Amino acid sequence: MTFADVVPTARILRILAISGSLRQVSSNTALLQAAIALSPEFVEINLYGGLGDLPHFNPDLEPVELPSVADLRAQVKGSDGIIISSPEYAHGIPGVLKNALDWLVSGEEFMGKPVALFNASPRAAHAQASLIEIVTTMAGRIVPEACITVSLLGKNLDAAGILTEPEISGELSAAIMALATGIEPSTAAIPRL
Ligand SMILES: Cc1cc2nc3c(=O)[nH]c(=O)nc-3n(C[C@H](O)[C@H](O)[C@H](O)COP(=O)(O)O)c2cc1C
Repeated sequence: MTFADVVPTARILRILAISGSLRQVSSNTALLQAAIALSPEFVEINLYGGLGDLPHFNPDLEPVELPSVADLRAQVKGSDGIIISSPEYAHGIPGVLKNALDWLVSGEEFMGKPVALFNASPRAAHAQASLIEIVTTMAGRIVPEACITVSLLGKNLDAAGILTEPEISGELSAAIMALATGIEPSTAAIPRL
């Protein structure tokens, strides 16, 4: 049975995934890549790749059409929902992630957007709490059932490795479905495999 069989008004749900880490072998990026691999046919997750290219946020530059900023705003606008997976640096979120979010504060693209927060480390509670505060302040709509904390710390798993962990894969799949339901309640009718 497919999405289209269950929901006649079927459409692909587009989700933008933002990793807060620029590291080549980032566990947060790997978590999002695993989510991409696990996403059902009616969910398309795209990994944002421009975090490191954004200029430092400066309100004076907001009226200027900067290509990297315009691209970020367009990708957010074109998505039905957002997943953020971020490491914690010194009890806060990485500057590059805050920088990206700051570029979105004044626009309408982020407002009301369903947001899932993934956390790759149970130790990173400050960053997770900070993200809840920031996203809520920016009028993003956090979907609590789609927010997960898994333990990848010290495991050195890439996306393929994460997919071999049944518990983490299960949590990821459930989170994706919860976000999909938060975006489009009719998806709750789709049988879970
Ligand atoms: C500069 C720096 C500061 C960090 N500060 C914290 C911290 O305050 N709390 C924490 O739990 N982990 C902290 N960590 C560990 C990272 O959050 C952890 O290595 C995480 O897996 C990195 O995410 P990534 O694999 O996606 O890059 C810190 C790491 C670095 C490099």
